[in-house]
Amino acid sequence: MSAVSEKVLTIDALLEEHRVIHPPAAFRAGALVKDDRVYEEADRDLEGFWAREAERLDWFRRWRRVCKWDPPWVKWFLGGRLNAAHNCLDRHVATHPDRVAYFWEGEPGDTRRLTYRELHHEVGRFANALRRLGVRRGDRVAIYLGMVPELPVAMLACARIGAVHSVVFGGFAADALRDRIDDADAEVLITADGSWRRGKVVPLKASADEAVKACPSIRTVVVVRRTGEKVPMTPGRDLWYDDLVKAETSDCPPEEMDAEDPLYILYTSGTTGKPKGILHTTGGYLLGVSTTHRLIFDIHPEQDIYWCAADIGWVTGHSYIVYGPLANGTTSILYEGAPDYPDKDRWWSIAEKYQATILYTAPTAIRAFMKWGPEYPARHDLSSLRLLGTVGEPINPEAWMWYWKAIGGERCPVVDTWWQTETGMILITPLPGVTRLKPGSATRPFPGVQPDILDENGNQVAPNQGGYLVLRRPWPAQFRTIYGSPERYVEQYFSKFGKGIYLTGDGAKRDDHGDFWLLGRIDDVMNVAGHRLSTYEVESALVDHPAVAESAVVSRPDPDAGEAIVAFVTLKAGVNGDETLIAELREHVAKKIGKLARPHAIVLSADLPKTRSGKIMRRLLRDVARGRALGDVTTLANAEVVEEIRALARTRHEE
Ligand code: WTA
Repeated sequence: MSAVSEKVLTIDALLEEHRVIHPPAAFRAGALVKDDRVYEEADRDLEGFWAREAERLDWFRRWRRVCKWDPPWVKWFLGGRLNAAHNCLDRHVATHPDRVAYFWEGEPGDTRRLTYRELHHEVGRFANALRRLGVRRGDRVAIYLGMVPELPVAMLACARIGAVHSVVFGGFAADALRDRIDDADAEVLITADGSWRRGKVVPLKASADEAVKACPSIRTVVVVRRTGEKVPMTPGRDLWYDDLVKAETSDCPPEEMDAEDPLYILYTSGTTGKPKGILHTTGGYLLGVSTTHRLIFDIHPEQDIYWCAADIGWVTGHSYIVYGPLANGTTSILYEGAPDYPDKDRWWSIAEKYQATILYTAPTAIRAFMKWGPEYPARHDLSSLRLLGTVGEPINPEAWMWYWKAIGGERCPVVDTWWQTETGMILITPLPGVTRLKPGSATRPFPGVQPDILDENGNQVAPNQGGYLVLRRPWPAQFRTIYGSPERYVEQYFSKFGKGIYLTGDGAKRDDHGDFWLLGRIDDVMNVAGHRLSTYEVESALVDHPAVAESAVVSRPDPDAGEAIVAFVTLKAGVNGDETLIAELREHVAKKIGKLARPHAIVLSADLPKTRSGKIMRRLLRDVARGRALGDVTTLANAEVVEEIRALARTRHEE
């Protein structure tokens, strides 16, 4: 009996977390949203709410109709015309040209700053260059860069001329790049000689060359100079970015795009399967990300220095480094490199140097900082921070508390934001001036969003029961299809419970107050002695122990219990892991959530396998725990740890 084939009716939610933190009065006083009216408005009249928000964007032509929901197909702002780059740049140049759009810091310590005027100028020149290369409205352009200013410039240049960008994360290898270029049939690839990561050069051009060998659709490769490597340039195909833009003026009239015209494709593989090209369109997407960015991060564009520390290669960077913040005229920090280079306090030195007021990052980063210890943030003055955010995985309550205390000084609300590449924008989240926070809970739906939790038969589960998280009502930034695979779009997301119900693939529970707790992917649910347990709760119980920084829990078949729990645990720096500690950890889980959830085996390891976006890959640990050959490892970021863990698991600590 395995968790995957077993029909998951509901999930037994066992972890109880009762801490509540109210929005600090000082924060609340200056917040954009101070009461619940915005929720009531959106509930009463969803289309009216979004139409009012849409007034904040610049439209070349007004829409005829706000939303057409023909499940599972949706359109927003029908008939409306606008341009995303125009909205992100031109209107700010008109009112505050000298405001900084990006403070950029390279990993070696070099810096650049681009005001809105300068960014507009760069984008216009590169957009003209792309036009000169024959790129037209609707054409696909692949972008494979590190975190350099040319990355947002290239995205916005595409948007300006109506080309569809497909950004491929700069940490992916040649094969992944090739598959993505191929699927999108991109004609131009924008890359760099290299990028900096932990003091070493990532050879982007070499990977690009290898990928393009097998991509007949690519006519031109544009190469940004970053690391100064000598790289081979193929005549007739490869062009230096500098040479290309030198001759161009910045005057580039934006294409008038239909609200439903594609803006970009972004591939997501999740933790399994063939990459899917998630297709986002222009009007609804830009509106959804700008509204959520403004209200959730409480953006005061004249004052805030906002830092989303994700990579632009992921959706978090698309929505909350590029389109949302720029649409709102925000000043952002952009950092090129690793958080522990040259030392483990790099982020805190950047936050202090630029006086960051808002920081948005992932639980995986927070757990790494927890593991390294509070002395690194303590070296720096972080008093400019006023708001913190997290995204990407369920955050364990202890990691939340650590973030709140060690980084936020118990002064900054923490917004735990739930969303997906597919949803385009944040959907479940606190609004920091009004929502009472609970460590580990993403709290409530964003205004107008209607999530629900269902059992296998499509019935709503009772409070505190876990089940399938679904969405019942459309929202403007949702993806419109999987590029080239509309049948897969319908099959994968809208077939289980019917055409009008979007299946997220996540498990969740709602507590007595209606607050949402995300329980991880449904595929990871375990079945122990007839109880369906989420990995997240057992992991959180382990992370609750003061010695533990991070944990990943999986199951393996067991003759008595159906499945037995195997926990992989990473300890905080300086903690000694011995048999006594392992026994203590098992008891700690029993005490926190019950004997039932006590791990059968605990493996201590220095690190856990993660995807390149930092999510724990339980699938591989399941293979290790079951002594099987490893499944697909192409999206794995740190391959070496799996072999180490496999060796450790052979000597694992059994009951
Ligand atoms: C997980 C990232 C719990 C979830 C924006 C989702 C979260 C997947 C949270 C999407 C959160 C994201 N709490 N889980 N706050 N945010 N997830 O496509 O499993 O990279 O389905 O988009 O990350 O990951 P993706």
